[in-house]
Amino acid sequence: MSPVLLLALLGVTFPLPGVQALFCQFATIQDVWNLSDLPLQWTPKNTSCASGMGCQDTLVLIESGPQVSVVLSKGCTESKDQEPRVTEHRMGPGLSLVSYTFVCRQEDFCNNLLTSAPLWAPQPPAGAGSLRCPVCLSMEGCLEGTTEEICPKGTTHCYNGLLRLRGGGIFSKLRVQGCMPQPGCNLLNGTQEIGPLGMTENCNTKDFLTCHQGTTVETQRNSAQKPTDWTTSNTKMCEAGQVCQETLLLVDGGLTSTLVGTKGCSTVGAQNSQKTTIHSAPPGVLVASYTHFCSSNLCNNASSSSVLLNSLPPQAAPIPGDRQCPTCVQLFGTCSSDSPRMTCPRGATHCYDGYIHLSGGGLTTTMSIQGCVAQPSSSLLNHTRQIGIFSVREKGDEPPPAPQPEGGGAGGLESLTWWVGLALALALWWGAVCPSC
Ligand SMILES: *[C@@H]1O[C@H](CO)[C@@H](O)[C@H](O)[C@H]1NC(C)=O
Ligand SMILES: *[C@@H]1O[C@H](CO)[C@@H](O)[C@H](O)[C@H]1NC(C)=O
Ligand SMILES: *[C@@H]1O[C@H](CO)[C@@H](O)[C@H](O)[C@H]1NC(C)=O
Ligand SMILES: *[C@@H]1O[C@H](CO)[C@@H](O)[C@H](O)[C@H]1NC(C)=O
Ligand SMILES: *[C@@H]1O[C@H](CO)[C@@H](O)[C@H](O)[C@H]1NC(C)=O
Repeated sequence: MSPVLLLALLGVTFPLPGVQALFCQFATIQDVWNLSDLPLQWTPKNTSCASGMGCQDTLVLIESGPQVSVVLSKGCTESKDQEPRVTEHRMGPGLSLVSYTFVCRQEDFCNNLLTSAPLWAPQPPAGAGSLRCPVCLSMEGCLEGTTEEICPKGTTHCYNGLLRLRGGGIFSKLRVQGCMPQPGCNLLNGTQEIGPLGMTENCNTKDFLTCHQGTTVETQRNSAQKPTDWTTSNTKMCEAGQVCQETLLLVDGGLTSTLVGTKGCSTVGAQNSQKTTIHSAPPGVLVASYTHFCSSNLCNNASSSSVLLNSLPPQAAPIPGDRQCPTCVQLFGTCSSDSPRMTCPRGATHCYDGYIHLSGGGLTTTMSIQGCVAQPSSSLLNHTRQIGIFSVREKGDEPPPAPQPEGGGAGGLESLTWWVGLALALALWWGAVCPSC
C-alpha cells in the first residue's frame, strides 16, 4: 500500500489545490453538572482543518431532576453546512434530551458557540406527581439507594439505563436514572446521531454493573494478625458481561508481611464465588488469599482484611527451632543478599528464596520472598496459576505460554508501556479499518 493511501486511510488528508483550508474552534466537554450551574461557558482552542472540511458545534444536554449532563464537541467536520438548529429529541416531563448543532464554512472559527445558553432557559417548577424514582446522572455509575425524587406530574415510569456516546472526540458512558412519561428503554426517542456523536442506550442492568475499584498495598510486621482497612474510594462502571471482584493476597515471612488487595471489574472468575485459601501454611512462610466474584452493584464491599484473617487457623507463638534464614517480603523489588535473619519456628528446617510474579487487577509485579519453610523443595503456591484476579507464577514454575518480561519491580511500568503501545496499535488499526469512526 502506498504511504499516501495509508495516511489517507488513517484520516490524514492533503490539501487540494484551490480549496481553502479552515481554522475552527476546537473543544470537547463531557461532564455532569447541577442544573443551577447553567448556563456554562467555555474557552475553545484552535484547530486547523483539512481542506474542504467545515467547522461544527454540537451541544447535547440531558436533564434528570436537579442534574444535567453536558456534552460538547467543537471541531472540524466533513458534513455539509447546516444552520444552527435546536432539537428536542425528548421533551419532559421528567428526563429530557435536547441538542444544538451547527456546521459552517463561511469563515475561520465560525463555529463560535461559547455558552450553553441557546439550549437552556430556566424552567418553571413542574407540578409534583405521585411517582418517586431514583434520579441520577453519572459517568462513574449510579450507586444503589441513590436519592429518590418525587417525579413531575405526567410521568408514570422510572427509567434506568446506560447511554454510550461516541464520536467527535467524545467517548463516554453515562448512567441515567429518572422519571419518564412512558415505559421502556426509550430515552433517545429514536435518536441515533447528533452531529458527529453516535448514541445508543441499554437498559439491561446486568450490562452496567458498578463495582468498587482500587488497589491496596500494605507492608507491616503483623498483617496476618492485625486486620487493616480494605476500602477504596473509587467506583467503576464495568463493561457488559463483567462482574465485580475483590482479591486479597497475604504473604507473611515472619519479620515482615505484605497484603495486596485489588477490587474492580473482572472478566475472569466464576460468577458469585467466595473463598479463602491457604496456599502455604506455617511453620514458615504463610501465603493465603481471599477471593470474591459477585454480580450485584458494589457487592465487592469487604471493608477489612479480617475477611481473610478470620479464616486463618489460630497461630500460637511459634516454638523456635534450630535453623536461621534470611527473611524478606518485597512487593516491588528484590530482596537484598543481606536480609535480616530470623530463627525459624520448629519444623521449618529450610530456607526459601524465590518470587511470585503477579499480574491482573491493574497490577503487574514480581514479589520477592525469603523465609523459612518446612520442605527443601518447597513451592509456596503448589503450582496454582490463578488467585482471584491475579495470574500468578512462582519461581520454578514453567513460564506461561506467552512469556512476559521479567525483572524486579519495574513490571508495572513495563506493562503500562506495553499497554500504551497496544492501544496505539489498536487505534491505528481501527483508524485504518474505519477511517471515519
Ligand atoms: C450540586 O449541588 C449539591 C447540593 O446543592 C452540592 O452538594 C454539589 O457539590 C453540587 N455539585 C456540583 C458538581 O456542583
Ligand atoms: C488561535 O487563533 C487566534 C486567531 O487567529 C490567534 O490569535 C491565536 O494565537 C491562535 N491560538 C493558537 C493556540 O493557535
Ligand atoms: C420523539 O421524537 C419525535 C420526532 O423526532 C417528536 O415529534 C416527539 O415529540 C418526540 N417525543 C417526545 C416525548 O419528546
Ligand atoms: C455488601 O454487599 C452485599 C451484597 O450486595 C450486601 O448484602 C451487604 O449488605 C453489603 N455490606 C456492606 C457492609 O455494605
Ligand atoms: C499440591 O497440589 C496437588 C494437586 O493439585 C495436590 O494433590 C497436593 O496435595 C498439593 N500439595 C500440597 C502440599 O498442598
